Amino acid sequence: MAEAARHQGGILLEGLVKRFGPVAAIDGVSLAVQPGEFLALLGPSGSGKTSILMTIAGFEFPDAGRVVIGGEEVTWTPPNRRNLGMVFQRYTLFPHMTVLENIAFPLKMRGVARAAREEQARAALRTVRLESYGDRRPAQLSGGQQQRVAIARAIVYRPRVLLMDEPLSALDKNLREEMQIEIKQLQREIGITVVFVTHDQTEALTMADRVAVLDHGRLQQLGAPRALYEAPETPFVARFIGETNFFQGRAGGAASDGALFPVQLDNGAQIHALAVGAIAAGARLTLALRPERLRLAPAGAPGLAAEVREAIYVGNATTLLLRGADGATLRARIPAGAGFSEPAPGEHVTLQWEAGDARAFAAAA
Ligand SMILES: Nc1ncnc2c1ncn2[C@@H]1O[C@H](COP(=O)(O)OP(=O)(O)O)[C@@H](O)[C@H]1O
Ligand SMILES: [Mg+2]
Repeated sequence: MAEAARHQGGILLEGLVKRFGPVAAIDGVSLAVQPGEFLALLGPSGSGKTSILMTIAGFEFPDAGRVVIGGEEVTWTPPNRRNLGMVFQRYTLFPHMTVLENIAFPLKMRGVARAAREEQARAALRTVRLESYGDRRPAQLSGGQQQRVAIARAIVYRPRVLLMDEPLSALDKNLREEMQIEIKQLQREIGITVVFVTHDQTEALTMADRVAVLDHGRLQQLGAPRALYEAPETPFVARFIGETNFFQGRAGGAASDGALFPVQLDNGAQIHALAVGAIAAGARLTLALRPERLRLAPAGAPGLAAEVREAIYVGNATTLLLRGADGATLRARIPAGAGFSEPAPGEHVTLQWEAGDARAFAAAA
């Protein structure tokens, strides 16, 4: 029975639109979350993350599109009939109740008998490793402990899906990193589907099986952390996940998706790059190149001429800030032990890279 319930945790969003006056908070989002998957919704503030979560939860209703959970359409179903757990940024525990009473509260609302309530609440408290804290009041707990209680309360009635909206953003950095791992382990242990909202790319990459990157209410890319970092499909994703050098240029020929083709950079250099999507001959391009993909060669070698401005030693690597011939600032990261002698500021060098590491996007018309 519990096992079957777990397999009902898939979520399907189809053509979701949500407007607030002139603003499309959700602008045509379709995506599928697999049962038992940990999906992060990642994007800058105002990109529509909370609106999507609220629509899944049933606290908002879409202007267009459908929400399907566990194979059943719930677009117009009220929140209390969707059997979902929710945890928000602020701990919304009841201050006058003990920890155990807080956790048992959703069971009480569901009419579960007192003895069963207490047993299930204690089990949930064990799951978040706070078994000896049941008799305390929320105010007697640290921020991290309070957030764990909030999680215990959200999972105590065994929902098929757990929705979390920036649940760690009020915690300090060390605790936040600890909780990221803990929540991930808990999710695996109980096999629940999680949709987790965050604006923090490291948090999303650390926790999620797949990440949905949002901008202005639109889904930019949905993929595993590795795919997002190594194969961004839009300049926005290349900029938002990790660090990227950008160049502008023009296609020296037509190219199909994934092909290497010649590019004339606006700074004068002739290079080859990897086409992301089909590219027409002569099209304006934005090129993205990761700092760690750049290699240093002596001045005058074939590649991109640059002048070193700063060499910053950070232990496992050296970050170089450089100025290109056109005055643009570039960033290169040379790993420690690459047999590299740190260049001095003012030194002229050449930047080289593998053609396939420069990703070319056709500029929006
Ligand atoms: N209840 C609301 N009334 C008016 N505008 C809203 C409301 N909720 C969200 N918005 C707007 O919709 C957009 C997306 O908001 P939101 O989903 O909260 O983004 P995020 O969670 O990514 O920060 C923003 O422009 C926001 O101002
Ligand atoms: Mg939000």
